[in-house]
Amino acid sequence: GMRKKLIAGNWKMNQTPSQAVVLADALKKTVSGKEAAEIVVCPPYTALIPVRDALKGSSIHLGAQDLHWEDQGAFTGKISADMLLDAGCTHVIIGHSEQRTYFHETDATVNKKLIKALAGGLVPIFCIGETLEERDGGRAFDVVKKQLEGGFAGMKDAGHTVLAYEPVWAIGTGRNATPEQAQEMHAFIRKTIASLFSAAVADGMRILYGGSMKPDNAAGLLAQPDIDGGLIGGAALKADSFYGIVKAAG
Ligand code: G3H
Repeated sequence: GMRKKLIAGNWKMNQTPSQAVVLADALKKTVSGKEAAEIVVCPPYTALIPVRDALKGSSIHLGAQDLHWEDQGAFTGKISADMLLDAGCTHVIIGHSEQRTYFHETDATVNKKLIKALAGGLVPIFCIGETLEERDGGRAFDVVKKQLEGGFAGMKDAGHTVLAYEPVWAIGTGRNATPEQAQEMHAFIRKTIASLFSAAVADGMRILYGGSMKPDNAAGLLAQPDIDGGLIGGAALKADSFYGIVKAAG
């Protein structure tokens, strides 16, 4: 297809600013700039600016792990789109399952965040995915459809939104979805996007897979027609394993 693959590292709550600079330096040395895939790293907020500086001159993009939908004001602990843009971010993860599970993220808050990110010119990496209980109960497709409908509610334009399908049962468990399981869901997601927006939007939208993606299972997943990249947690914390996944993207 015409979709350029995207490999994004979600560092989650790992890496102090000084550790993050070491990792960013290692990545910068490893990446040639000739990779087939676009590359993004998403450090914690406190590491954004040092990582931006460490990556100067490299082709690696910078993303954040969340944002708030308000412009500014009395929202202790939160971070705005302008702050992320000024810190050098081009991407932002929205609706990660850990936000949904531990921090009251809902489809409604995801919706507000998507609108704000797009308005500011950030590329949202919009995460969706079912729990094990939902999959075992035969509800995986319904759950994902509802997350897409809720997240995109009222939106006429998805802009440059990237989706990330992350089955919760595969995150940090070492148990990745099989390429066939993931492809089946990715095709369903693309069909759902066609019905929410248009066939052209669906065709151009990148859908990443996330959940225990590693150098040794990445090629099989990334070879699927509707898998356009990966959102990498654990394996993104070491330059060699992250780059192994980048290489598997072609
Ligand atoms: O955002 C990344 C995902 O939650 C995947 O994490 O690769 O550690 O399973 P993981």
